[in-house]
Parts: sequence; structure tokens; C-alpha cells
Amino acid sequence: MLDPMLKAFIERIPKTELHCHLEGAIQPATLLNLAARNGIELPFSDEAGARKFYEFTSLNQFLEIFALACSTLKTAADFETITLDLGADASRQGISYREVFFTYAYHQRRGISWDEVVKGIAAGREKARQMYGVEMWFIADIDRTIDPQDGVQTVEMAYASRDVAGIIGVGLDSQEIDYPARRQKPAYDRAKELGLHRVAHAGEDVGPESVWDALESLEVERIDHGVRSIDDPKLVKLLVERQIPLTVCPLSNIELKVYPNLAAHPVKRLRDAGVLVTLNSDDPPMFHCDVLDNYFAVTDTFGLSLEEVEDFVRNSFRATFQAQSEKDSYLKRFDETAAELKAELWGM
Ligand code: HPA
Ligand code: ZN
Repeated sequence: MLDPMLKAFIERIPKTELHCHLEGAIQPATLLNLAARNGIELPFSDEAGARKFYEFTSLNQFLEIFALACSTLKTAADFETITLDLGADASRQGISYREVFFTYAYHQRRGISWDEVVKGIAAGREKARQMYGVEMWFIADIDRTIDPQDGVQTVEMAYASRDVAGIIGVGLDSQEIDYPARRQKPAYDRAKELGLHRVAHAGEDVGPESVWDALESLEVERIDHGVRSIDDPKLVKLLVERQIPLTVCPLSNIELKVYPNLAAHPVKRLRDAGVLVTLNSDDPPMFHCDVLDNYFAVTDTFGLSLEEVEDFVRNSFRATFQAQSEKDSYLKRFDETAAELKAELWGM
């Protein structure tokens, strides 16, 4: 059982999250409201039904349900609602800084304009900052399966909206099997030219070769998931040498059957090998967990020490796309709060 002191420390220490999808984070109650507001039929009618409905056997099955959640979003007001909700949720968990994905392809397919999406994100982001003091920045994810020309267009739109909606980079998500990262190289070359940060989901549904592909073809700065890198010692060595962060979502990986259980998950082995591993939630309600749950479960399963917990949190602050001076001030606040909590909880 998780030590109650360690649990309190995890709850109260300032944290950051770097792998969370805006559309995958819609809480069931909000989803039901949005569906009612926009006349969308859902295959469940209450919150308990939603929770039960979120059962997956694969990434591709999950993506169908992700698309269903997206179908409830129509107007800028809808995007504002879910962005503000994410700010409230961050505040509840002690997350002071969050980098959040959104995937325009799922909205474009339904005829929603880019401007409608970013207008809502911009408004929700500003309100979240005012109401909760939570800082959120956005990463425009390219759906791996889209036409590479549309990938380039996503980058151009992300760049044009960078100031209005706080878009700091581009990412890659959705179906990993059959859609290698290199397909979207034109988009990533353009993102590099424009000075946008670059990340990609890889090494979740496909093995280490997918991580190599993202690193070599797209020159990404972080890998989302990346857990299957563990199967290639040469790749692990490179991740360590270059300190390329992995945004790991352990409980998501269990729900999507990447690993049968947490004890079999490589999160601790990667960390012990020297990889810069961060802990994240991915699509919280869909995977029946939040950031705290991921910390609790990893701490409990692997018997993490206080120092190891601190290390994971510190890694997340180190891996953000903030300027070094901003990182330093977040880390300073982290160190101060950690010292206060250690004195209060353990008399240290
Ligand atoms: N992997 C791929 N695509 C996704 C994910 C993920 O974890 N979450 C939302 N879209
Ligand atoms: Zn993800």
C-alpha cells in the first residue's frame, strides 16, 4: 500500500504534465452536456455508462472512441468549455503547468474550421490562467494517417495561431501501425524552419523502429510514450546520451494492453537506465486515471523512494518547452515546496 505521507507529498507538490489530449480529457458529465447541446447521440446516457463504455482492447479501438468524443465539439464555446475544464482539473491535481495536444484532423473531417477551434482554446486558456493560475500551452498534433500535404497545412495554421492560442509546437498521434512517422517529414521540416517545437507519439503500438523513425526522419525533441524503446539497447543508449525526454503514460499503456500490468511496464527500468522519463495521464477519463493516479500507481508498484518521486516530478519541469529562466523559476518553487513538505510530513 502506498505510504500516506508519500501520497500527500505527491498530491501537494507542484507538478507539470506534458502528455494530455484536450479531446481525450473531456469528463463524462461535460461530454453528455456537449452532446445534448449539439444534438449528438452517444451510446451511453449517464456518467457511469460512459465509464463502462471506455473499455479497449487496442489503440485503434480507442481511437474510434476518441473520434466519438470529438464529435460532440462544434463551436468555439465548446472548445472553450473543455479547455477551461482542463485548467480546473490541473488546479485540482496541483499541476501548475501543462502542455496539451489537440488534433485538428478529427475536427476538419467534420467541417469545423481551424479558427473555431483555436478561438475556443485561446479563450479557455486565458480564463484558466485567470481563474486557476494554471499555465497551459498547446501542441498541434498531426494525425499520422492524413495526407502529408494536410500535415504541412496544419503546421502553417499552428504557426499563424501561435500567439493567439499559445501553440508552441507540433506533434504526431493516432494510428501508428502502417503509418510511419517519415510520411509526415514535410510537415516537420516546415515546423523546424518556423521554429516550432517538435514531438511525436511513437513506440506505443509499434516497437523501437518507430521511435528511430521519429528521431531520424522528424528530428523530434521529445517522444510521447516511447516505452517500447526498452527493446533496443542502442536506442536506450541514444535517449540517455541525448537526454531526449519520454512522456510516459503508464496506466494508458496498461488500458491499451501495451503491457499486461504495471509490474511488467518498463517505466522504472527506463528511468534506472538514465532516460529522462516523465509521468503523464494521456486521456484521463478514457483511461480511468489522472496524473496523480499515475504517480500513485508507479510509486506503489515499484516501491519508489521520496527521492525517486522527486526526480520524476523534476524531470517533467526539465522537459517542458519553456525558456530556461522559466524552468528555473518553476524548479525553484518546486524545491521550496518540497523542503516545506518534507519538514511538515517527515520532520526532515
Ligand atoms: N496514442 C495515439 N493517439 C492518441 C493517443 C495515444 O496515446 N491519445 C489520443 N490519441
Ligand atoms: Zn497520447
